[in-house]
Amino acid sequence: MDSFNIAVFASGNGSNLQSLLETKKLNNEDSIDVSVVFSNKLDAYALKRAEKNNIPFFSVNPASFENREKFDAAVLDKLKTFNFDLIVLAGYMRILSKEFLREFEGKIINLHPSLLPKYPGLNTHQKVVDNKDSHHGATVHFVDEGLDTGQIIGFSKFKIKEYEIHHLEAKVHEIEHKLLPLICSLIKNKRLKFKNNVLEIDNIEYPDGKEFNF
Ligand code: GAR
Repeated sequence: MDSFNIAVFASGNGSNLQSLLETKKLNNEDSIDVSVVFSNKLDAYALKRAEKNNIPFFSVNPASFENREKFDAAVLDKLKTFNFDLIVLAGYMRILSKEFLREFEGKIINLHPSLLPKYPGLNTHQKVVDNKDSHHGATVHFVDEGLDTGQIIGFSKFKIKEYEIHHLEAKVHEIEHKLLPLICSLIKNKRLKFKNNVLEIDNIEYPDGKEFNF
């Protein structure tokens, strides 16, 4: 099989990066190769995880640049020195500039801790508690210029039993750690197509993304 490499962008803990790295140990068609990890935070634990796993990593500090475009251009310069087929935003807490998105059109996916289109942006667990929602979950979508608005690829949900932020966050993480590697492997194995605004997985159309049950 052809090689397929992923660039992971993460701003914090990087437990989702870890879930991608764990697939390497499976040594089968679902295994994912992460070729580089980037963070906008020098102290992000995600970078430590990369280091521990001998994955190349780098950080660029947004404070050193006068605007988003210049920061993204610096990230892009460095990123281009690595080989990758897909950019995965796994807890990357910045918006990408239009120029950056244009460069990698259709090749950036984002993991989001809610059942999109519900609750784009921040504080999703709090919003679920405030609204006493019956279900919560996570979504993976292609990135476009809007805030968490791109075509949904897949999502997974659970019924809420306890309205407590840390509990919900842990449950969402549990789901994310399965959902993200699975969707990356679908892309890697070319089982997923997105053409003329139609998403197909294994030749079945999913206009609103496919639900995965774990
Ligand atoms: C994940 O829950 C991810 O969905 C969320 O950040 C967390 C990162 O966890 N992403 C966003 O909120 C993006 N807007 P991790 O650092 O342990 O992978």
